[in-house]
Amino acid sequence: MTELNNKKVYVETYGCQMNVADSEVVRSILKSEGCVFCLSANEADFVLINTCAIRDNAEQKIHRRLRELRVVQQRQSTRNAKGYDIQKTYIGVLGCMAERLKQQLMRDEENVSFLVGPDSYRKLPDIMRRVAQGDRVSETVLSPSETYSDISPVRFDGNGISAFISIMRGCQNYCAYCVVPYTRGLERSRDARSIINEARALFGEGYKEVTLLGQNVNSYKAGDMSFAQLIANVAEISPELRVRFATSHPKDLSDELLATMAEYPNICRCIHLPLQSGSNRMLKLMNRRYTAEWYMDRIEAVRRYLPDCSITTDVIAGFCGESEDDHRATLDIFRRVQYDYAYMFKFSMRPDTYAAKHLKDDVPDEVKKRRLEEIIMLQGEIALRNNQRDVGKRFRVLVEGTSHRSKDQFFGRNSQNKVIVFDRGDAIPGSYANVEVTGCTAATLMGRLVE
Ligand code: SAH
Ligand code: SF4
Ligand code: F3S
Repeated sequence: MTELNNKKVYVETYGCQMNVADSEVVRSILKSEGCVFCLSANEADFVLINTCAIRDNAEQKIHRRLRELRVVQQRQSTRNAKGYDIQKTYIGVLGCMAERLKQQLMRDEENVSFLVGPDSYRKLPDIMRRVAQGDRVSETVLSPSETYSDISPVRFDGNGISAFISIMRGCQNYCAYCVVPYTRGLERSRDARSIINEARALFGEGYKEVTLLGQNVNSYKAGDMSFAQLIANVAEISPELRVRFATSHPKDLSDELLATMAEYPNICRCIHLPLQSGSNRMLKLMNRRYTAEWYMDRIEAVRRYLPDCSITTDVIAGFCGESEDDHRATLDIFRRVQYDYAYMFKFSMRPDTYAAKHLKDDVPDEVKKRRLEEIIMLQGEIALRNNQRDVGKRFRVLVEGTSHRSKDQFFGRNSQNKVIVFDRGDAIPGSYANVEVTGCTAATLMGRLVE
């Protein structure tokens, strides 16, 4: 059988943070086979594209990328025809799109040699060996138990300062619009010991921040360990280690978690709480299992326990049957909550979901667009006002590196996850600095180093 030793692998990652973490698991699995990682598809023996299926445009992007990669392969075969002995590049599609489309993707994309769903990465070495001998392979069985808990991720693209730790996989909330339960399978939590050990090892290597990841982290449960207990254990590792998490579902945001956050200053003051819609009628149709009143009650609880906490959200404009009144209800919640940041999307119908089977995608595209624009405009004003309120305040910032704007400036983030840019002075990436905010835009704070 072909050996993978010294084979050059290029991994490209799309989609959410879970995919970033999965690509690190994939690298770990391939590293133990002796693979080496390269920085571009042109040099690679194997190109692995870790994909996202959340909206149609996410999938279109992958189809475009696969067309580009066809050119890389054609160039190689032309050179081989001229007598050069150049190794063929094999292309594999991993992740959510592989899982959703299965064999159909290989039928539509002839240059793809293998498909591997999110729960089958342990099989990658065998699959790649078969592919190198001329097979085309598809492996997309989902597992009720796989958590890759024994695999130490290889953080190849990382900054050595901040790392993701995947603590659970899958989702079974079945929001009506969402493809994730079909691409990621049933919810399962990774054992707590392996998570805490991974965080401790990262801190030992010099990392200063970990983000605990799951589609719905606050339903984490491993034995008797709740998410609040888990995060407390991770926060105990050191007061110098910052702990973040994403994403929490409003229906499960417990007072226990908020009280734990209040107890540990190193659990960051930032909660991502996806709203999706401010209308009870829409929330019900979306199967979100909370009302706008419940959501506002949770926001008030956050403000009570953590007065300096930032709150961010996700929202969908133009879900099935959304009326102007429903849309106004969303704008109303945005005004009341005053989010620090929002990820805002136009509804995209996904095959196989409840919405695709039972509801109609009946909001015209130009109406979706206009509603989305209105949300974006409003949120822009809110974010700017929120940032203006930070001017004059001092924050402890974890310095991450050189700012894109100027090599004389660093950027870092405060506990609230806001980016702050400042003249570098004697600050050091990977350590903390105190920064006073002197100005802002809607997206960024500007500041200066203080004692
Ligand atoms: N588990 C997280 C979200 C995961 S997907 C949660 O429940 O909050 C990230 C975001 O993509 C969602 O919060 C939602 O706002 C958006 N999204 C998911 N499916 C979508 C669809 N079909 N069309 C548009 N946006 C969608
Ligand atoms: Fe999708 Fe809902 Fe699960 Fe989030 S909670 S991943 S939106 S089904
Ligand atoms: Fe996309 Fe899959 Fe994440 S669909 S958002 S990569 S879980």
